Amino acid sequence: MLECTVAVVREKAKPFTLETVRLEDPRPDEVIVRIVGTGVCHTDMIVRDQYYPTPLPAVLGHEGAGVVEKVGSAVTKVKPGDHVVMAFGSCGHCLNCQAGKPSYCLELYGYNFGGSRPDGSTPFSNPAGERISGCFFCQSSFGTHALALERNVVKIPQDVPLEIMGPLGCGIPTGAGTVINALQPKAGTSIAVFGAGSVGLSAIMAAKIVGCTTIVAVDLHDERLNLAKELGATHIINARRENPVEMVQKFTNGLGAHFTVESTASPKVFRQAVEAVRVTGTCALVGASALGTEVTFDMNSFLFGRTVKGVIEGDSIGDVFIPQLVELWKQGRFPFDKLIKFYDLSDINEACAASESGAVLKPVLRP
Ligand SMILES: NC(=O)c1ccc[n+]([C@@H]2O[C@H](COP(=O)([O-])OP(=O)(O)OC[C@H]3O[C@@H](n4cnc5c(N)ncnc54)[C@H](O)[C@@H]3O)[C@@H](O)[C@H]2O)c1
Ligand SMILES: [Zn+2]
Ligand SMILES: [Zn+2]
Repeated sequence: MLECTVAVVREKAKPFTLETVRLEDPRPDEVIVRIVGTGVCHTDMIVRDQYYPTPLPAVLGHEGAGVVEKVGSAVTKVKPGDHVVMAFGSCGHCLNCQAGKPSYCLELYGYNFGGSRPDGSTPFSNPAGERISGCFFCQSSFGTHALALERNVVKIPQDVPLEIMGPLGCGIPTGAGTVINALQPKAGTSIAVFGAGSVGLSAIMAAKIVGCTTIVAVDLHDERLNLAKELGATHIINARRENPVEMVQKFTNGLGAHFTVESTASPKVFRQAVEAVRVTGTCALVGASALGTEVTFDMNSFLFGRTVKGVIEGDSIGDVFIPQLVELWKQGRFPFDKLIKFYDLSDINEACAASESGAVLKPVLRP
């Protein structure tokens, strides 16, 4: 049993409060990580606001990086003192996990949003005897310590700054993996990324890495678009001033882009991202909207060989993809640290507000 400080959401859409709780010792397949830095992802805010009904009160946070403090009796992958990033959770035994597609785990919702272990227990308790949801993305990393599964901790080298690595747990690999793993554009092709938040900008950095020669960024904020240019965009479009579909067509000789990525979660933008794809091209949907959100299309948009592909967590396998992104960062080819601004864990509400207003791309909380 360990006393730790965590940020708790008690009521829908209300601020986080810092509380002291007790964290259970790890079970055989579990690992306790002392958090060094944890990223704030848009998904934390939509769960705080209960777009997805993780039971409250809950400890959220799913981009944690830190040092292994304790391991369960059956754990062999890591040992105390190892540096790790925590990725999303998956069961490891369903058909999709067995097929090497853990982001499409048939138990993905329970493992990431259920608020408990599969047996319904939560590792947190407080003196009042209250049930506090934990195990968010198999970590709940908004705190000084987190309990993860051996399966979702990813060992990283000790010679990289651990405090910036947490975002490699979700938002950054989601954007990068949508390009590198899911769309797999050939060198010389074109891509338009709708939304230049941390996910979209990661997609843009990845598009540069794989050799796309026309890389279009679409957003509403000029500062984000300027950063997109610095990170690899060849063209930028401010959708407040210009029609993004017409502009993407203009930048691609009237054909539309080979690939588009939708990372705004807006139905209007999803439609634009489909309309901006050329005949036989592919649009990847990444933005996570509230359950029940509907969208309309002209059926003919799809008739001409176009594909729309939903992509979860960038089709990534944490143990494979996170070390690859660390290596690309070390080589200076994937400078995701440019998106980060540090906050104290106690300033979590300020960090979320800065992310929601667009002022900060990727807040990272340090306990
Ligand atoms: N599929 C997954 O596995 C997965 C994983 C992580 C995050 N997400 C989702 O991905 C999305 C992006 O995450 P993020 O952290 O980058 O969020 P973000 O809020 O930082 O970025 C969204 C961007 O879209 C821009 N935008 C909004 N409306 C627009 C419009 N009409 N036209 C052009 N741009 C517009 C915003 O200005 C912002 O820069 C979120 O919906 C998040 O929940 C999905
Ligand atoms: Zn599974
Ligand atoms: Zn996330």
